[in-house]
Amino acid sequence: MRIVTFGATGMVGTRLVSEASGRGHEVVAASRGNAGSGGRNAGYGGASGEAGAGAISTVAVDARDQSRVADLLRTADVAISAVRPRPGEEASVPEATRALLDAAAETQTALLLIGGAGPLISALAPATLVLDDERFVPAQWRSSAVASLVQLRVCEGHGAAWTYLSPPAVLEPGIRTGTYRRGTTTLLLDAAGRSRISAEDLAVAALDEVEHPGEARHFTVAY
Ligand SMILES: NC(=O)c1ccc[n+]([C@@H]2O[C@H](COP(=O)([O-])OP(=O)(O)OC[C@H]3O[C@@H](n4cnc5c(N)ncnc54)[C@H](OP(=O)(O)O)[C@@H]3O)[C@@H](O)[C@H]2O)c1
Repeated sequence: MRIVTFGATGMVGTRLVSEASGRGHEVVAASRGNAGSGGRNAGYGGASGEAGAGAISTVAVDARDQSRVADLLRTADVAISAVRPRPGEEASVPEATRALLDAAAETQTALLLIGGAGPLISALAPATLVLDDERFVPAQWRSSAVASLVQLRVCEGHGAAWTYLSPPAVLEPGIRTGTYRRGTTTLLLDAAGRSRISAEDLAVAALDEVEHPGEARHFTVAY
């Protein structure tokens, strides 16, 4: 497949690009910060240099620029977004999400959004969203968690072919084990009560979804 990945220079985006390329897909790695870095296969740890890996090209584009996004999607089989606004820019989430969705609808391209854990139901309090449960979302992360709920609401009112992947509460760089559990709209906990996954394994789950789309529009994964 030819996969356009937005937010490709970020923590999640870099892992998505490497995972997709490692599976032999052709990847267009898009973010604003790619301006000037251009060229093929730049900055992804040489993933595309491995036997059977797919080519990686980079492009600078702002996800809010719907017409540019649509131009890119016209060249793609599927799109993944791991866009996250810089701290203090959370108010841009609806605009960027809408532009991606509008472009996906216009070009009839499936769009997988890597969002937040905030809109999931708390595993410990079924009447509470994760964003309102301080056991999972400490105060300093609340604005990001609220932004992810807003993002999901924008998706829910849109006719594009979107799917929304909520990570567990803790998502950070780690190792690729290739294993994870898949849930629906309730936060997943491991046997020790932790809700976590590495960014590498989140990328595995995302590419599994892209290659074999499930029924759910909103799902989560965790160890
Ligand atoms: N536990 C959780 O729920 C949890 C934890 C971590 C992350 N996440 C989610 O995972 C996703 C990815 O997060 P991350 O940690 O990988 O973020 P990150 O490391 O901050 O990377 C964000 C990426 O988005 C790009 N970006 C920002 N604004 C953009 C725009 N307007 N147009 C195009 N690209 C833009 C950035 O590059 P430029 O700024 O150069 O464009 C960068 O590539 C987000 O949805 C985030 O909320 C969830």
